Amino acid sequence: MSVITEKPAAGRPACLTPATLKAIEDGRPGYTRERGNAFLAFQLRLSAELLNHRVITANPYTAWFRQGTQNEAQVRAFIVQFSVFSNQFLIAQLNKVINADTLEGMRASKEILANELGVTFRRPGETRARTPGAYDPEHVDIEGSVQGGLFHFEAGHIEWLWAIAKDMGLAFGDIGQRRHGEPSTLFFCDELIRLYGSDDYEIGQAASYAVENWAAAGFWKELTEGLRRFNAQHGARIPTGFFVWHDRLEAQHARHTQDELEDYYFQTALDEDAFIHYGNEMLDGVAAFWDGLDEQRLTLSE
Ligand SMILES: [Fe+2]
Repeated sequence: MSVITEKPAAGRPACLTPATLKAIEDGRPGYTRERGNAFLAFQLRLSAELLNHRVITANPYTAWFRQGTQNEAQVRAFIVQFSVFSNQFLIAQLNKVINADTLEGMRASKEILANELGVTFRRPGETRARTPGAYDPEHVDIEGSVQGGLFHFEAGHIEWLWAIAKDMGLAFGDIGQRRHGEPSTLFFCDELIRLYGSDDYEIGQAASYAVENWAAAGFWKELTEGLRRFNAQHGARIPTGFFVWHDRLEAQHARHTQDELEDYYFQTALDEDAFIHYGNEMLDGVAAFWDGLDEQRLTLSE
């Protein structure tokens, strides 16, 4: 997954980026002071009506997971549900590629899809991805482009999850497939396909914005911490690379999401109510996933 400034939007100062201010000064089409003020007002609405969604502000499951008190069955069940989400996300992302209405948008979506599948990022100025064979998620690059990057089966995100599953005694056929998904997991995946991968560009943008702000809310750190604590308490060595890598990536994406929204706002007549509506629908889907995991773990407690 992937797409503001250094801070999450919720805590963002109410000001425009230097690039936007310059565009207003230069009188670029669509860039007026009135539109600038309208955007700042919209930003306040987003903070009050979307970014305050409970799944962004508080996630009881990941808060519990972080403590490291889970048992093996709970870790296993978590990995299985996460693997179903990870694979179904590929479908949502492919739909996003297909439904992009600009070349630039299609390429941005393809970056994410190809990387999920195993193409490592190549940094600007490098002729090819560094260290061929380097696909260890703890170290693999989070910056650059898949253009000229290298493909490794082992760099596919599902294989990082498989490394954990294997460690927990699961077989490959036990993970990833839709049939292993709890109804709440499948609801989330289907909402991703319906909203994030929508053929209505604005719905897709709203869902992306919502998903990115969720992803930057810190849950990757909680999951990583929980697994490290689990490892320490059980003398286990479950690889945490999948979660570490996504946490590193999100810090980078958080810098782009808000800027993208700002650009988009000045170039279109965005329907604010619809944007907030669909963003909330997406976050309700996300919340269903975590609620499902929270209920499931209670059934697996000793
Ligand atoms: Fe991923």
